[in-house]
Amino acid sequence: MDDAAKVANFEKRIAEGDKIEPKNWMPERYRKQLIRMMSQHAHSEVIGMQPEGNWITRAPSLKRKMALLAKVQDEGGHGHYLYSATETLGIDRTEMIEQLHEGRAKYSSIFNYPTLSWADIGVIGWLVDGAAIVNQTMLAKTSYGPYSRAMIRICREESFHKKQGYEIVTTLARGSEAQKAMAQDAVNRWWWPSLMMFGPHDADSPNSAELLGWKVKIQSNDELRQRFVNITIPQVRAIGLTVPDPDLRFDEESGDWKFGEIDWEEFWRVVKGNGPCNRQRMEHHRRVHAEGEWVRAAAEAYAAKKAANAS
Ligand code: 3HC
Repeated sequence: MDDAAKVANFEKRIAEGDKIEPKNWMPERYRKQLIRMMSQHAHSEVIGMQPEGNWITRAPSLKRKMALLAKVQDEGGHGHYLYSATETLGIDRTEMIEQLHEGRAKYSSIFNYPTLSWADIGVIGWLVDGAAIVNQTMLAKTSYGPYSRAMIRICREESFHKKQGYEIVTTLARGSEAQKAMAQDAVNRWWWPSLMMFGPHDADSPNSAELLGWKVKIQSNDELRQRFVNITIPQVRAIGLTVPDPDLRFDEESGDWKFGEIDWEEFWRVVKGNGPCNRQRMEHHRRVHAEGEWVRAAAEAYAAKKAANAS
């Protein structure tokens, strides 16, 4: 088929809700958009291990340490699922990491904030993973098969992440005055950055129209952000905490919790590399990647020897 017929057939399949698989023909632009979005998602999962990993040795009990260890290990696994899913599009993991190190690929702004207290670990599990669940539950329906299947598996683990986070914050909110104040301080610092995870407003999103047209995204940034706020505000109120938004109000007609304007100046400052921890996150990632070179070399040598023995 010539390209026009291939595009028409591809778009017919998307419209009919088919999953596009690696061996199927796809427009180069579709492939490039998926590589951008999926590799950045993978980078986010791996870099997201840093702020939480910072508290593994300082968890307040063995039980808390075990749950946090399990969560951080899960995030590393999510990164591998997503790098593997992205490699089905013809890009090598080495190249993706190079793009990250050279500033040609992004990762989620949320991981550029510091974890200042144990309450931050609970709020990350509750709000950050809670926001990720809203986004990833949608992405489980994405038109690209490998991404959709990775999301289904990841979402199962995310729900444990959110539950353990909310349980930590609930324990603190119902504890001493000092514990409740620590929990409220963490919510105050992480609330707006969690809303920023969903990206710019739809009208300011250069990628959304194309991604929605190809059913890579099924819902828009603003729709998902609103869904997250509607789910989360009742959870905040249930444990006697508040969010730092004087404009928050319940709109009877729509059933939505209307919220104030996000500080987009802060959002773009962090996305462009000038957030509180951007430099630290990238230095750590570069250093640990270099330290892990021997592991990659050993794995490649083993694979080459095995292949040589097999031939
Ligand atoms: N942080 C960093 N960059 C962001 C961003 C954020 N929160 N939101 C948007 N951007 C970037 C986009 O990447 C894009 O830049 P690019 O074209 O150079 O890649 C630009 O800002 C414009 O944004 P758009 O809305 O046009 O971009 P998208 O249509 O790709 O939407 C997105 C952004 C909603 C993040 C979308 O890419 C997406 O859903 N990605 C998959 C999910 C994901 O990556 N989540 C990150 C968190 S992972 C996580 O939370 C792990 C959990 O276990 C804790």
